[in-house]
Amino acid sequence: MNRIKNQITEKMGVQEEMGRQLYFMEKAGKYVESLAAELGRKPTCCVTTFGCQMNARDSEKLAGILEGAGYELTEDEGADFVIFNTCTVRDNANQRVYGRLGHLNSLKKKNPHKKIALCGCMMQEPSAVEKIKSSYRFVDLIFGTHNIYKFAELLTLMFESDETVIDIWEDTDQIVEDLPVERKYPFKSGINIMFGCNNFCSYCIVPYVRGRERSRSPRDIIREIEALAADGVVEIMLLGQNVNSYGRNLDEPMTFAQLLREVEKIKGIQRIRFMTSHPKDLSDELIQVMKDSKKICRHLHLPLQSGSTRILERMNRKYTREQYLSLAEKIRREIPDIAITTDIIVGFPGETPQDVDDTIDVVRRVSFDNAFTFIYSRRTGTPAASMEQVPEGIVREGFDRLLKVVQETAKERASLLNGQILEALVEGVNEQDPDLLTGRLSNNMIVHFEGKEELIGKIVPVRLAACHGFYYTGEALPKEQDGKETGIPNG
Ligand code: 5AD
Ligand code: SF4
Repeated sequence: MNRIKNQITEKMGVQEEMGRQLYFMEKAGKYVESLAAELGRKPTCCVTTFGCQMNARDSEKLAGILEGAGYELTEDEGADFVIFNTCTVRDNANQRVYGRLGHLNSLKKKNPHKKIALCGCMMQEPSAVEKIKSSYRFVDLIFGTHNIYKFAELLTLMFESDETVIDIWEDTDQIVEDLPVERKYPFKSGINIMFGCNNFCSYCIVPYVRGRERSRSPRDIIREIEALAADGVVEIMLLGQNVNSYGRNLDEPMTFAQLLREVEKIKGIQRIRFMTSHPKDLSDELIQVMKDSKKICRHLHLPLQSGSTRILERMNRKYTREQYLSLAEKIRREIPDIAITTDIIVGFPGETPQDVDDTIDVVRRVSFDNAFTFIYSRRTGTPAASMEQVPEGIVREGFDRLLKVVQETAKERASLLNGQILEALVEGVNEQDPDLLTGRLSNNMIVHFEGKEELIGKIVPVRLAACHGFYYTGEALPKEQDGKETGIPNG
């Protein structure tokens, strides 16, 4: 009884908060309106995203609120309002933000109306906020990851204040989702299914800046996807730091595989992707659901991080090299046309060249379709930061050795698709050659082919004619041939 009562009060709180934010959007709109009168044109805004898919989705929410308040979106950082949605997973992401801020300051000197805001993961780090307060005083607004839904309110405060507005929360239980969103693509969208992370891998700052794991209710997720489908979205990506642990902390627990089965039933959605899977939580049930599905894409991003059990243990990853290998083998056996991609870190404290050999060996055995390789970055406050670090030269040498093998393997895997006819979702006109379209296969491979712009947002069969390492060129076929020659695995 009490639990139901709590749920109702929580729901009422969310409704109330949404109402408040819509009120602030109107209020911010008044300030934007008077700015427009002063400028004699509609004020412009620019949202710059650093980092992962979760940030990209958050940026769509920021853009939705800015548009709602009356700004015109542009990609030009000369805009009247610029917001950096930051990442802090590796130190070079932080350095990029500082570098770009210098440039924004020179633009601000030329445009006295210009406002600059910073939000996202880096702002959850007290040392970064201190540095901005002392050395980048021209920044007008700073907020973190937990209060992004309050953006309209913070925007209003910014207009009303002469000083930098700073609003950082340690954590929150609130999930307020029904505010306007400005999607980058009309035909595909990310959907948050959970926030935060409980895994505390010893190198990783995410649990500290994104807080504890919280799953959204399946009802809210389904409702959001139904609305997206009604709005023309055909491909969705379910987002979470570790989607395989979805639903554990719900009042009525459910598994990620069960959620996928529900999402599959939504009419209009033709492709389902998800990110990221932690190997320790990937269940047989999930493999089965993927295998049975016509909609779930043939792609699994399964971060390895290291192929050495000794290092995996120090990383607190909770699986061994052998467990990873047998999981990957099982997935490839059950779903032969699947692409497996991964993340690998080189130079974790204590890593020796033999450990890198072990990683390279796993790369060869699994034959990853693609791998993102990172040099270990020391993040203050994480357990690995106080372990003995590997000298830079040794890290570089290991990194180069690994990269070579990763590239060879990926090319080999890609070449296996030569001559096949597979379905591609047409994502846009090719950036280099306007006569070509760019599409994405179910397995996440990119293909370029001739075609008319009307095809954007449609799923078309494409014959893969030439492999160029990480992408293909091909030719689109008329829809009638769909599936006849190859038995296209899924949509
Ligand atoms: N240094 C280097 N790479 C890291 N990642 C996470 N934290 C660090 C770090 N401190 C990588 C992991 C993760 C990906 C998103 O970023 O490989 O899977
Ligand atoms: Fe970071 Fe590990 Fe959580 Fe991924 S699972 S976000 S690497 S702590």
